[in-house]
This record gives sequence, C-alpha cells and structure tokens, in this order.
Amino acid sequence: MAKLLLEDKVVLITGAAGGIGRATALLAASEGARLALTDVAADRLAAVAAEVRANGGAALEVPADLTSGESVDAMVTAVVEHYGRLDGAFNNAGVSGGQIGQGGRRAGEWEETAFDRALAVNLKGVWLCLRAELRQMGSQGGGAIVNTASLAGLAGFKTTAGYSAAKHGVVGLTKTAALDYAPTIRINAVCPGYTDTDLMKDAMRRGGDAIMARIPAARLAQPEDIAEMACWLLSDRSAYATGGTFVVDGGYLAG
Ligand SMILES: NC(=O)c1ccc[n+]([C@@H]2O[C@H](COP(=O)([O-])OP(=O)(O)OC[C@H]3O[C@@H](n4cnc5c(N)ncnc54)[C@H](O)[C@@H]3O)[C@@H](O)[C@H]2O)c1
Repeated sequence: MAKLLLEDKVVLITGAAGGIGRATALLAASEGARLALTDVAADRLAAVAAEVRANGGAALEVPADLTSGESVDAMVTAVVEHYGRLDGAFNNAGVSGGQIGQGGRRAGEWEETAFDRALAVNLKGVWLCLRAELRQMGSQGGGAIVNTASLAGLAGFKTTAGYSAAKHGVVGLTKTAALDYAPTIRINAVCPGYTDTDLMKDAMRRGGDAIMARIPAARLAQPEDIAEMACWLLSDRSAYATGGTFVVDGGYLAG
C-alpha cells in the first residue's frame, strides 16, 4: 500500500484553531501525521483537537500565546515530552489589521500599539517558534518547517502596513533560515491569496467586490487549498524545496 504523505511524522501546527490551521490539522491527520496543535484561543483549539480525534487522528493540544518566548519554549517542550520528537512545524498563527481595529487605515494612520501587535504575532511569533523548533530538529538531525506568509509578503496591499511589513519579514526570515540550516532542515513559506477565514472578513466587508474582480480563479481560496500546499511542503515529497515562497492565490499575482 502507498505510504501516506505524512505517515510517521510528528507535526506541530500553530494557529490551529483558525481556518487554515484547522484545515491543515484535519488534512495532516488524514495523511498519517500525529499532531501537536497550538493557539491562543484555548476553547476553539480544544474543539479542533476533538474533531481530529473524532476522525481517528492523534492530536495533543497545547494552548500558548506565541508572542512570548517563554510560552513558545514551554509549548515546544510539552510537544517533545509527549511525542519524543518533532518532524514538521507549520508556523501559521497570524492576525490581520482588520482583526486589531486597523482596517481601512493608510500606513501613517495605524496606531503604534497595533503596529507592534502585528509585528509581534506575525513576525516575532514566527521567529520564536522557528527558534524552538530548530533546536529540537537540530538535535534530531532533520525536519521541515513551513511559515505562513501572504501575498502581502510579496507585494504591497493598500491599508495593510503593519501586516504587510510583518509578512515581508516572514519571507526574509524564511529565506535566511533556509540558508542557515540547509541541507539538514528545510524551511519554506506558503503565501496564500484571499482565503475564506475570519482573518479576511473585514477586508471582504470593505472591498469584497473589488477583490473578487481581481481573482482569476473567480473564488476565494478555501482553507483546504492552502492546507494541501502546507502538507506537501511538510512531507518528504518536497525534499528538494527549501527557501521557497509558494504562492497559492488562484492566479491573483499573475495579473
Ligand atoms: N485568510 C487569508 O486570506 C490569508 C491570506 C494570506 C495569509 N494568511 C495567513 O494565514 C494564517 C492563518 O490565518 P487564517 O486565515 O486561518 O485566520 P484565522 O483568524 O482563522 O486564524 C488565525 C489563528 O491565529 C491565532 N492567533 C492569533 N494570535 C495568536 C497568538 N498571539 N498566539 C497564538 N495564536 C494566535 C488565532 O487565535 C487564530 O485561531 C495567518 O498567518 C494569516 O496571516 C491568511
């Protein structure tokens, strides 16, 4: 019988209570991964972990605020204590400007605290996770890491200043870390286009028609579209991919 995509792998997913994280958890479990799931939203996280288990998967839930190094280190330690190893990590937690009250604000109009928050969650949070994961994967002699960037990490989008700055940072961090750890640990970024989750609700409410008019695929991405790329990048089937930015955007950037 053909091996499942993530058979025998222990995979950590951050932002697992959200749209893309949940879809990736369900797909990764169906592809044989044993999961560690983390999010700051403990109740929604518990519901996703229960859903994975109800489908026959293995899921450990470890709630954590990923803006704190202490909290991230404790979370990764708990994962390794439970499973004994860490083969893959999807650093996917994030927050949009709209989710922190900055929707529609031009670059000079963002509040300082919100700008700090956007960088703390979307960029520093990814680095803190990466640091803890690299320690473990380094001691094991291998692993694969996928960071969630965005189209806003590759191009400018009006009124997304703090978010876009952070996501461009995630792309730079991904490339640099990939060079630092090749050939032992592979590190890539996935860049989703407009995806149907809570994160995009404010932008869709403000300018949904204009957004839809620019998507060649003529629909929003479903979280499952992004999960497919994340799982492939976490698997051995992407063995030659490292330092890459993998766009899944229904053709948006091609236009
Ligand atoms: N939805 C889109 O259109 C889109 C497009 C490009 C990139 N992305 C990126 O995809 C990733 C997943 O977002 P989503 O669309 O599933 O949105 P979502 O809002 O459904 O999920 C994000 C999750 O991150 C968690 N989170 C936020 N701050 C956290 C913190 N400090 N510590 C731990 N967890 C925290 C939230 O609780 C939430 O469950 C994000 O990095 C986002 O920037 C989304």
